[in-house]
Amino acid sequence: MCGIVGYIGSKKAAPLLIEGLKRLEYRGYDSAGIAIIGNKQILTKKDIGKIEEIHKKINLIDLNGNLGIAHCRWATHGSVCRENAHPHSDCSGKIAIVHNGIIENYNELKDKLLAKGHKFRSETDTEVIAHLIEENYNGDIKGATLKALKEIDGAYALGIICSDEPDKLIAARNESPLIIGVGKGENCMASDVPAILKLTNNVVFLDDKELAVLTKDNFKVLGLDGKEIKKEITKIEWNAEQAEKSGFKHFMLKEIYEQPKAIEETINGKISNDDVVLKDIGLSNNEISKINRILIVACGTSWHAGLVGEFMLEELAKIPVEVEYASEFRYRDPIINKNDLVIAISQSGETADTLAALKEAKKKGAKILSICNVVGSSIARESYSVLYTHAGPEIGVASTKAFTSQLIILYLITIYFGKIKGIISKDQIKNRVRDLRKIPLQIQSVLEENKYIKLHSKYFYKKANALYLGRGINYPIALEGALKLKEVSYIHAEGYPAAEMKHGPIALIDKEMPVIVMATKDDRTYKKVLANIEEVKSRGGIVIAITSEGDKEIRKRVDHTIPIPQNSYILSPILAVVPLQLFAYHIADLRGCDVDKPRNLAKSCTVE
Ligand code: AGP
Repeated sequence: MCGIVGYIGSKKAAPLLIEGLKRLEYRGYDSAGIAIIGNKQILTKKDIGKIEEIHKKINLIDLNGNLGIAHCRWATHGSVCRENAHPHSDCSGKIAIVHNGIIENYNELKDKLLAKGHKFRSETDTEVIAHLIEENYNGDIKGATLKALKEIDGAYALGIICSDEPDKLIAARNESPLIIGVGKGENCMASDVPAILKLTNNVVFLDDKELAVLTKDNFKVLGLDGKEIKKEITKIEWNAEQAEKSGFKHFMLKEIYEQPKAIEETINGKISNDDVVLKDIGLSNNEISKINRILIVACGTSWHAGLVGEFMLEELAKIPVEVEYASEFRYRDPIINKNDLVIAISQSGETADTLAALKEAKKKGAKILSICNVVGSSIARESYSVLYTHAGPEIGVASTKAFTSQLIILYLITIYFGKIKGIISKDQIKNRVRDLRKIPLQIQSVLEENKYIKLHSKYFYKKANALYLGRGINYPIALEGALKLKEVSYIHAEGYPAAEMKHGPIALIDKEMPVIVMATKDDRTYKKVLANIEEVKSRGGIVIAITSEGDKEIRKRVDHTIPIPQNSYILSPILAVVPLQLFAYHIADLRGCDVDKPRNLAKSCTVE
């Protein structure tokens, strides 16, 4: 996945483009580059590495001109090297292009262009687009691009400039996110909102197979048939500061601390008079009462949210639920029945596997409800209806506030469905809503444990492995805690149902293998968890337990305790995960890892 930005206006483009690109670097940081039109020619600078490193080497902003494009890369085709860095250009050097996506038929297109004498400088699929536009160019960059796009199969978000037409910036999208920023006397385009917030908060979300022509005073959106399409302008509530770190060392820590607010924002408008009201759910009471099964499709942390949702929906709304890895679901030719509901969960709303899985389910007649954190994202727009988490921009690659916000939405859906199906009474709803209202303050109190959690992490940051154990609704939290640790600190960690220890993992236990156990008293298997802890301790293992406030008994049985407030069993995962997020964060920071941009990862996997 890559990040692209473009600017056209009366200001110097280069500093604005690099400023915006830095806000997209979470999308990919193998290489970066910029192309500006100045004195009727295209000036390009690019190299491998992160933006700051490259800027120190070759000064990315000393290019004069007020039209340009820029790019940060997460390699999909071609190695990480300068030649493969974007922008790419055609033979004449008059056309420059930046791209996020994958062109499926680039090999055959490249063969045809080579046969016509085109010379290629890179191994990328992107460069093929530049030569294809050149092949079709006859003084009209928009027309040439439309013709080229008709020959392309695959995903693209494109920024294109042409030195013969220095008054136009072309943007085009298919299956990769792309927005237009609408300013006064200037316009811009980008892969994601944070990149343009310093310029404007009026945005237009491009849809698949749309092309936009931006001038400094106007923009037009066309279909691939060249016909104009009317698009609405959306006002983004986020400001540039929200996309900043606001004083935290890393985005991940900032976003962990934003969870009380994110949850309040997510609940906002969905509870009234101790009742749950989901006006955006897009399903009639009749449709909800007929739901026989729910399929949840997601990836990574969002998949863990799905596992918690399964417990909630089966426990309180008595609806059978199956949780599927989106990447597996899409290739399995799944059976979808008439009264199945498919819920797609995705923070970015751009995860290729999740998008493909919901398209597969849709093709088979299922209704799709999605839970997304990005307004207007591909998954949101592909769904029958969307319930948005309002966690705000999540920049750190490790998902934190979006995860707990997803759990809130799943809890609200559970209560709403249970109510419509007549399984949850008014009084029970009142109690469930009361429990929910406590969560933001209870998370705040867990965050106040941060300094102790940081102390605990000092014992473990040099370990090579870790085991996370949980039972019931907190088994997915064991999985999530393990994922957090491995993705930001590179320590190998596994999550397991605690009862599974005796079927193999117990062989791993020694003093070098820290074991983190979800051991809250609201857990109906609490006594079984205590027995599992004994099994670990009797083999010389070290146990860190997430416990209930006031549980003094367990302190005698483990090496470290991190207490969390008591709420209902069903809501305990939302509280139990917070110390695990902080634990992973501090260990990664102590290890000197790049917490917000861990190696090999990207914030959203918009490619398969
Ligand atoms: C979570 O910390 C990871 N960054 C990753 O597993 C992520 O949850 C997964 O890629 C799904 O992303 P999505 O929620 O944007 O679809």
